[in-house]
Amino acid sequence: MSQTHFGFQQVDESQKAQRVRGVFDSVASKYDVMNDLMSMGLHRAWKAYTVAVAHVRDGDRVLDIAGGTGDLARAFAKQVGTRGTVVHTDINEAMLRQGRDRALDEGLVLPTALCDAETLPFAAAEFDLVSVAFGLRNMTHKERALAEMNRVLRPGGRLLVLEFSKVAAPLEKAYDWYSFKVLPRIGQLVAGDADSYRYLAESIRMHPGQAELKAMMKTAGFGHVDVHNLSAGVVALHVGIKC
Ligand SMILES: C[S@@+](CC[C@H](N)C(=O)[O-])C[C@H]1O[C@@H](n2cnc3c(N)ncnc32)[C@H](O)[C@@H]1O
Repeated sequence: MSQTHFGFQQVDESQKAQRVRGVFDSVASKYDVMNDLMSMGLHRAWKAYTVAVAHVRDGDRVLDIAGGTGDLARAFAKQVGTRGTVVHTDINEAMLRQGRDRALDEGLVLPTALCDAETLPFAAAEFDLVSVAFGLRNMTHKERALAEMNRVLRPGGRLLVLEFSKVAAPLEKAYDWYSFKVLPRIGQLVAGDADSYRYLAESIRMHPGQAELKAMMKTAGFGHVDVHNLSAGVVALHVGIKC
């Protein structure tokens, strides 16, 4: 049986999705408040930047993968108009339910699918734009997921991957201290769960950096990939064009 990483631990590949599910089942109800606290509100700016770069137009067909509580899906839904579609998807039912409730609170009813990014239940070339925010690093076979994202995009369509990345060297020490000392404590105090936030910090360190992810996207069929570093590389937005 092949091994993979779950944070800093080595686990059987077959166990990773289940362990990740445990993390998001545990944090779903506190996910949004924790996001604001941990990033000091910055996740809103990173997502707003992503939405601006996406430049979604009236009538576009958009797929949000690992959409969780739906920040991107809701923003895109306001831009595609009545002729367009935004499909909100995630592998975790608890996260999708939170997302559905938040969308309903804003008067939005979005088509929703509970699905694994590694085997998407959509036809080839069905979407103009695919987005995945802070989801890719949790996936067991990232290459498989990226290939699926490529398959469901039309030629010329774009994939936007917003994800934690490799921070600039002068900030590494401070970032490590914050990630490994402060984050789990906030997780314990607010969500009663230090372990899930320890996993968050570890999974960020195990995720490919800017150049490696760009290469993976090219291998998956994105002929052109741009990388936008945000907050000194704490986060990066990779934009791939299927061409
Ligand atoms: C950190 S949350 C991000 C949620 C949202 N996109 C955001 O930016 O706030 C990561 C999400 O990835 C989802 N996820 C993890 N593995 C997945 C997979 N293989 N397929 C689809 N979603 C997955 C989790 O269930 C979780 O909701």
